[in-house]
Amino acid sequence: MRVVVIGGTGLIGSRVVARLRDQGHDAVAASPDTGVNTLTGQGLEGVLQKASVVVDVSNSPSFEEKAVMNFFTTSTRNILRYSASAGVAHYVALSVVGTERISDSPYLRAKNAQESLIKSGAIPYSIVHATQFFEFMKRIADEATDGTTVRLPPVLIQPMAADDVAKAVVTIAIGAPLVGVVEVAGPQQFRFDELIRQDLRDRNDRRTVITDPHARYFDAELGERSLMPGNDARLGEISLEEWSHRPVLAK
Ligand SMILES: NC(=O)c1ccc[n+]([C@@H]2O[C@H](COP(=O)([O-])OP(=O)(O)OC[C@H]3O[C@@H](n4cnc5c(N)ncnc54)[C@H](OP(=O)(O)O)[C@@H]3O)[C@@H](O)[C@H]2O)c1
Repeated sequence: MRVVVIGGTGLIGSRVVARLRDQGHDAVAASPDTGVNTLTGQGLEGVLQKASVVVDVSNSPSFEEKAVMNFFTTSTRNILRYSASAGVAHYVALSVVGTERISDSPYLRAKNAQESLIKSGAIPYSIVHATQFFEFMKRIADEATDGTTVRLPPVLIQPMAADDVAKAVVTIAIGAPLVGVVEVAGPQQFRFDELIRQDLRDRNDRRTVITDPHARYFDAELGERSLMPGNDARLGEISLEEWSHRPVLAK
């Protein structure tokens, strides 16, 4: 099966491409690095020829409000248009658990707009909602940093390893379209402030995490369960402990 992975050179995309190839599929990484730009449309028509499945795991280089909305809406319109002409039978996109309920985050509003376009498009789809990646913890801390302090709310979070995300995306991509949303999450729950405090400690980062129920996460105020998946989520196997003991190159 020919599967085109938009963002196939990224954190999740490179793992998705490798897993698909291991399983004998013709997986193609599509990104500016490989000559495909979903914003301008460059290279899309060619790469999608004879593709059965398109998997979109791309991400916006900028999280600024206008830029991120433009990235996800323009890219998605282009991918939908060229996929329809190529006869793609399954459109898979990776999004974030809670996207529909965290409306004060410009990033998640853009992900929501991406999802709406896919849902109203003509191609049978599967949308995968993942929780925060372990690999994203440093970026979370950096976003929440002021000087040497990091402010985070003590809400629940159930993060997961990029390898588990990729595994779930591949299983869904080679199956029949769900025409709906499926949630994936890690095997354990944490308190957000505690998780990042522990991660900074593990990396000998001397910043202090201050517990603040009103601290914002990418501009959004979070409730106790805003980041949590529902009871039907498919759970990954890699624990935080196992992941943090991996050598850097194996992460
Ligand atoms: N971070 C989290 O905790 C989290 C949680 C749930 C869901 N997600 C979702 O997971 C997805 C993947 O995230 P990631 O961390 O794997 O992203 P990433 O490592 O930043 O990779 C982004 C990919 O998008 C590509 N890209 C950027 N601009 C492009 C363009 N104009 N045309 C085509 N491709 C373009 C990049 O290509 P180049 O390498 O060539 O620049 C790269 O391959 C995102 O959609 C995000 O919303 C993230």
